[in-house]
Amino acid sequence: MFSKETYIARRKKLASSIESGILVFLGNNESPCNYPDNTYIFRQDSTFLYYFGLDLPHLAAAIDIDSGGEIIFGDDVDIDDIIWMGPQKSIADQAASVGVGKTYPFARLNAFVADALAKGRTVHYIPQYRADNLILMSDILGTQPAAVNSGARVDLIKAIVAQRLIKEPCEIAEIDRACDLGYAMHYTAMTLMKPGMIEQEVVGAMEGVVISGGYMTSFPTILSQHGETLHNHLHDKVLEVGKLCVIDAGAEIASHYCSDFTRTLPVGGKFDSRQKDIYTIVSTANSFAAEMARPGITYREVHLAASRLMLQGLKNVGLVKGDIDEALALGVQGLFMPHGLGHNMGLDVHDMENLGENYVGYDPGQERAKQLGLGSLRMARKLVPGHVITDEPGIYFIPALIEQWKAEGKFTDFVNYAALEGYYDFGGIRLEDDILITASGCRRLGQKRLPITVEEVEAAMAS
Ligand code: GLY
Ligand code: MN
Repeated sequence: MFSKETYIARRKKLASSIESGILVFLGNNESPCNYPDNTYIFRQDSTFLYYFGLDLPHLAAAIDIDSGGEIIFGDDVDIDDIIWMGPQKSIADQAASVGVGKTYPFARLNAFVADALAKGRTVHYIPQYRADNLILMSDILGTQPAAVNSGARVDLIKAIVAQRLIKEPCEIAEIDRACDLGYAMHYTAMTLMKPGMIEQEVVGAMEGVVISGGYMTSFPTILSQHGETLHNHLHDKVLEVGKLCVIDAGAEIASHYCSDFTRTLPVGGKFDSRQKDIYTIVSTANSFAAEMARPGITYREVHLAASRLMLQGLKNVGLVKGDIDEALALGVQGLFMPHGLGHNMGLDVHDMENLGENYVGYDPGQERAKQLGLGSLRMARKLVPGHVITDEPGIYFIPALIEQWKAEGKFTDFVNYAALEGYYDFGGIRLEDDILITASGCRRLGQKRLPITVEEVEAAMAS
């Protein structure tokens, strides 16, 4: 938790950007896994954490824009709770630790909102992504659950996004820590991975590092010799010499700030020459994007420039042909990288995605493209100091997609379909670092960059 002044200042800034009414924030609850008392590990809502800092279930909060009042809604524990959980701080003490002076029992939330609605005041809230909170919000507002999210307030969403997109120094320090833990997680995989192991053994060792040193992984680990499947969560294969293994994994530390790194390792420790060629195109694009990322440029431009560089590389190895700028404009790169160059990161690994991808990643007036790849770009905005984003180019050979484009006769002037047939067993490569936009450019987050060049990766795997 940060100082109480941090939370007070954040709420003050938020309140100053909303004209009138009340703001209502729901914290998350314990979420049952297979029966009510066997819950998933508790994860507080990130917006609640950002403004109210309290990492406990069953809380809500309100800010009255017109009076300036702030309230935490929650229930003190009783003796039954103390028997199972031990003594707990009172809600009033918890609220005071983040600078909120007034607390009400949780059950008063309904009457509080009903009173505001009866007076014709605007109740501002953000979209709900958990079923229990959707139902609670529908109860509070007297609407159907299906109608809750369409009533979420865009002015509140935009104000939160504007604030949370620019990371404060105390947040950057936390993200650096999350990246250090992410480094340890990936370095473990590099030094541990051996042919004959099951993929899951590597996953277990990596996740052990995170659970020992932090909170949990920032998303379900992707570790697969079928890297062409972008988010492959099956880890049941035996590691085979000569295959590439994509590892996309991140750490979330106790303060809930995240990291998100991807490395692609050659099982057995040595890249073959064909792998080296494609790998070098992707690693060059990763570094090129970081060199380009600076205030004033849009991340859409960086995505397109990195895509252009990869198309040129693919042309050099004979998989792409024709004019590269024309190919880029038509969207040929989507065949090889059907995802965006990166996303915002912070308290969420895809930061604030619950508030709406376009509100988070697109400036007013920026249109989201329809092309495969560019259309999945989650961060397109003009860069400003304080943005934290991922830099994650990739090249994948997805036989079903290649076959589909070939059958449709798509871009035959630019794609060498005959040569691509030799790559159907190649898999994919993705290389991801986390960067902070600074006054003059960007810096990679975390104390050390994970090995990334062919030579660095082979040396780390041999150690
Ligand atoms: N690292 C997983 C993702 O960015 O979607
Ligand atoms: Mn990512």
